[in-house]
Amino acid sequence: MMMVENYMFDAWNQLLHGVKAGEVPFLKAHGVPIFEYLEQHPEDLQLFGESMTSVSGTENPAIAAGYKFSALRTLVDVAGGHGSLLATILKANPKLRGVLFEQPSVIARAGKDQHVTAKGIAGRCMLESGDFFESVPKGGDAYIMKYILHDWDDERSVKILANCRAAMNENGKVLVVDNVISPGNDPGWGKLLDINMLIIGGRERTKNEFAAIFRDAGLKLTRVVPTKCPLSIVEGVQARRPGRENRGVETQSVGMFGPPWSPSVDLCRKELLHGGDGQSSRNGSLPVLPQFVRNRSNLRLTRTKK
Ligand SMILES: C[S@@+](CC[C@H](N)C(=O)[O-])C[C@H]1O[C@@H](n2cnc3c(N)ncnc32)[C@H](O)[C@@H]1O
Repeated sequence: MMMVENYMFDAWNQLLHGVKAGEVPFLKAHGVPIFEYLEQHPEDLQLFGESMTSVSGTENPAIAAGYKFSALRTLVDVAGGHGSLLATILKANPKLRGVLFEQPSVIARAGKDQHVTAKGIAGRCMLESGDFFESVPKGGDAYIMKYILHDWDDERSVKILANCRAAMNENGKVLVVDNVISPGNDPGWGKLLDINMLIIGGRERTKNEFAAIFRDAGLKLTRVVPTKCPLSIVEGVQARRPGRENRGVETQSVGMFGPPWSPSVDLCRKELLHGGDGQSSRNGSLPVLPQFVRNRSNLRLTRTKK
């Protein structure tokens, strides 16, 4: 339903402009990002939430069966909509506790949702509102997010992941539930959906692309678990902190797995983490910064001790 609403058609009409100018078609059409637009249009927001619940109806059982949730104590559903996925997982795992995290206007609706309020679930499902670009609830053993990272570009996705990393228990996990685009030109639902995500400024990703944003958020992709629906569960854990290899150099952090750092530092960081030498960029525009060292999970600005 939400893909064929008038506000989406208006955004699709800006596809050519978006491709030519490199701008987000939805922004060109409406002047605000999609979730801000929905906040301003409560009827569309309601329909969007109910459509997500409806789409999820076929996916939730496959996701709940596709991962060993029984090994967890607390599962946080980051931007879990009206809560049907979390409720399905809680129902299948009677000892598990859940936290449904969403924007305030959506949490208000989720509180009345039949899934979340169902017998046997309500007492184990906390509702919490907030903004995942600010923070997410602390203390989860795992942070699941279905159809979330595909809404956002890499920079914002890294921010969401980094906030999960900062909030999780030791040995915590992120469980990203999205399409994982297969290599080559085989047809796939995710490839079609990718064009819809382009319209709103998001994207579907390959396994390597997930690995890259995980790395930039201080996480390590551990495995991709297929499910009996088109979505996969991309699992990540905290990347190992820098080890002893930096002894002998004085280090000063340039940021804890996320902005703010200057764009040039960010460029250098990406260049180094993904294989460059830090002295030049593909377009030759990078300044030569003070010496950087590469390590497994983060990049630190270093000064050699005199
Ligand atoms: C595509 S929906 C996915 C919902 C749910 N996970 C599902 O699969 O049905 C994206 C969700 O992200 C939420 N969202 C968008 N921006 C957010 C923010 N800044 N903080 C928290 N949630 C946000 C929206 O309210 C929306 O419910």
